[in-house]
Amino acid sequence: MQSAVPVSDSVYWVGVNDRRTALFEAIWPLPRGVCYNSYLILDRKVALLDTVKEISLSGYLEKLKETLGPERKIDYLIIHHLEPDHSGSVPVLREIFPQMKIVGNKKTAEFLGRLYGIKHGVEVVQDGDELELGKRKLKFLLTPMVHWPETMMSCESAAKILFSGDAFGGFGTLDGGIFDDTLDIAYFEDEILRYFSNIVGRYASMVQKAMTRLKDVQVKIVAPTHGPIWRKHPERIIDLYDRWSRYEAEEGVVIAYASMYRSTERMAEAAAEGLSEQGLAAVRVHNVSQSHVSYIIRDIWRYKGLILGSPTYDTKVFPLMDSLLRLLETKMVKKRVVGIFGSYGWAGGAVKAMTEFVKNSGLELVEPAVEAKFAPDAGEIEQCRQLGRNMARYIRESST
Ligand SMILES: Cc1cc2nc3c(=O)[nH]c(=O)nc-3n(C[C@H](O)[C@H](O)[C@H](O)COP(=O)(O)O)c2cc1C
Ligand SMILES: [Fe+2]
Ligand SMILES: [Fe+2]
Repeated sequence: MQSAVPVSDSVYWVGVNDRRTALFEAIWPLPRGVCYNSYLILDRKVALLDTVKEISLSGYLEKLKETLGPERKIDYLIIHHLEPDHSGSVPVLREIFPQMKIVGNKKTAEFLGRLYGIKHGVEVVQDGDELELGKRKLKFLLTPMVHWPETMMSCESAAKILFSGDAFGGFGTLDGGIFDDTLDIAYFEDEILRYFSNIVGRYASMVQKAMTRLKDVQVKIVAPTHGPIWRKHPERIIDLYDRWSRYEAEEGVVIAYASMYRSTERMAEAAAEGLSEQGLAAVRVHNVSQSHVSYIIRDIWRYKGLILGSPTYDTKVFPLMDSLLRLLETKMVKKRVVGIFGSYGWAGGAVKAMTEFVKNSGLELVEPAVEAKFAPDAGEIEQCRQLGRNMARYIRESST
């Protein structure tokens, strides 16, 4: 068990690392685990901010006991977000500290009743309400739908800590260091984008609303419920989140393709060559049968261009490509330019279906859409290169 770590005077990180769960929310892979951050404020009153998933309960309780000492009890449990990765330990804590008030908003109270049957001892706060703890107070900022309806943040008055819930958080355990200046932050930035694009991105407009509200708040430390605590460069993660939620993209292209017998794969290689010929270095090629979709969606969120390739399979797009398209639809990715290619055996269908997908999603198409009957011939390979060149030029022109 990692011990409690001071974040500021009398504010402690009491989170836990989880290296056992393979798939977060039963879908997103965790190659380097995940952590559930929880914070304890020991002022005249004691406040616990969020809890951890119930599988990590025993280590968590030990850490809480050690940090509280024999005398002190928890007065308030603040719930910024009720998803069970943070609220799983609430029922047990309620039993240990029966007098503890649970603080949330109207939606939190409703969900607490439905999820855990907890109906009493809940204090409902409104946007802008403050909770005095002694020297410190917490001001609540309701940020609904980032990414559940009850999500809220709180700002601590003395050290200017923003307890942000899932916002600004990502995958990966905190291996020793817990701050942005004490761990390999580039890795975490990638994982925060993977978390954002796959879990929060659909609600980008609500994130933008929250970002607007944060402009009036002085923040020196960002303390999310997953991933590093930002104390050296809090402005860095706030700026990244602002850009991601405005769909701002970097100059680069993702090629996502499916291929059973390499015809479509050869077309993908040719498109990549075309991009490179035009001097584009940021090219990420994903075989949808190999890369987990969460990494593909992350890269699509990062880069301006997307090129999709699929064979026709039972008159349709290849199933795993179809699954990527459905997820893209759900995540409501915007402001991207898309190119398309595919191979078929007799009647085709995949290229047409992908073209329709792009048009229905309001994304922009780059020509030519290339279709090859079985193995692509030299002309079709050249067309794929041309698609790559056109895409690179388009991206360059649109970002100048
Ligand atoms: C299970 C299966 C189903 C297929 N269904 C169709 C189809 O409905 N229509 C069609 O035109 N081609 C169909 N094909 C042919 C493939 O689209 C064609 O072989 C293509 O070149 C495969 O590309 P790949 O080498 O990139 O996998 C099918 C092939 C397989 C193996
Ligand atoms: Fe969540
Ligand atoms: Fe979470």
